[in-house]
Amino acid sequence: MAKEHLSPVWARAFDIHVERGEGIYLYDKDGRRYMDFTCGIGVTNTGHAHPRIVRAIQEQAARLLHGQIGIAIADKVLELTDELASICPPELDTFFFSNSGAEAVEAAIKLAKQATGRTNVIAFEGSFHGRTHLTMALTMSKTSYRSKYQPLPAGVFAAPYAHCYHCPVAQRTLSAAERAALSASCPNDGGRCCGYAPEAVRFLLKTQTAPQETAAIIVEPVLGEGGYVVPPASFLRALRQICDEHGILLIFDEVQTGFGRTGKFFALEHVGVVPDILVMAKGLASGMPLSCVAARREIMQTWPPGSHGGTYGPNVVSAAAAVETIRVMKDERLPENSLARGQQLLQGLRALQRDFPILGDVRGLGCMVATELIDPHTGAPSKHLAQQLVKHCADHNLLLLTCGSYENVIRWIPPLVVNEAQIDEALQIFAAALDQVA
Ligand SMILES: Cc1ncc(COP(=O)(O)O)c(C=O)c1O
Repeated sequence: MAKEHLSPVWARAFDIHVERGEGIYLYDKDGRRYMDFTCGIGVTNTGHAHPRIVRAIQEQAARLLHGQIGIAIADKVLELTDELASICPPELDTFFFSNSGAEAVEAAIKLAKQATGRTNVIAFEGSFHGRTHLTMALTMSKTSYRSKYQPLPAGVFAAPYAHCYHCPVAQRTLSAAERAALSASCPNDGGRCCGYAPEAVRFLLKTQTAPQETAAIIVEPVLGEGGYVVPPASFLRALRQICDEHGILLIFDEVQTGFGRTGKFFALEHVGVVPDILVMAKGLASGMPLSCVAARREIMQTWPPGSHGGTYGPNVVSAAAAVETIRVMKDERLPENSLARGQQLLQGLRALQRDFPILGDVRGLGCMVATELIDPHTGAPSKHLAQQLVKHCADHNLLLLTCGSYENVIRWIPPLVVNEAQIDEALQIFAAALDQVA
């Protein structure tokens, strides 16, 4: 009965009544235990209810729940800027806080407009940046996020993302297996990328949005909702170069890739590209609502006081959770664990790929791993196979989500506290599901 009062707008992947979480596990009210390889959609990187983070939240809640930053600055917020400065590229030394990923993306775009005096933004096909009106305009992973909400804010231009498995140039010249091998070698593509995607950005600047009107290029360094695509390093490096040539600001949306997910604190570390603006959320506070925009001081200084803000950001209890999250990640070497467990997962899935040709592409970076399901006869994306596999795994207590514009990608995002035996167990469940479904 109570469920009927919840808005149906939330699409629910599973019908689970969760009672508590611990580490990589969720427990329902009947005591059934699930391996949570959805991680609350890439949020609980430190695992559910990490004791140190719970304690930090409890202690802060007893001291101060809300310290409005326009009224007074709480020490916890300053502690958080110190912790963030210790993990961000040194150039990005000034921070703005809000509550959700979409809010932080909006803030980043507003900052870029103020800093450049320009109006337009380039985003990428397959991208996901949020569900507010401006971020919907930047989101191009599925039409369902936009249908019946048009018109959306103007001044957003779309370019293709570098996606070796689906690249239109590679599709003409390489077999599916060769494209999968190329995709697997990203981001260290060794110069084999055809350069189609950055060339399309240059063309866009010639044909649709002039450089002097273009404030920013916003990109996910690993495409998230659009299918967990690891691009060649040359793509992100070329975007940096294009921005430098034209005084355009480069924004990395690391809402999903941040906080150890790809095996480094930030995915940018894999490619050595420093954006002008970095957007973070999700894993930042282990589930407490908090997001952040980091930028160089001289960019932040162009933002007139009062021209942006909000009541809550940064909530001081969320700030306490974030401080402890970063410390736990360092002390427990979670980015390193993400890299090692991600390798184990990729190896296991690639071994399965040899036996099950429905696994068209297996790709990933750290514990941000994708298996793309295809019809083995036609090579066409198969949403149906992905759904069947997810259902079989859930029936056997392993929770996985899909993603991708064709909804045929199963994404693997375990909490970063996951251990070797747990990855092996998940692979066994998935192997049984493949046996059943294929
Ligand atoms: C890359 C990226 N940016 C922005 C967002 C939006 O974050 P939120 O749902 O917190 O608004 C998401 C959410 O999945 C995301 O993956």
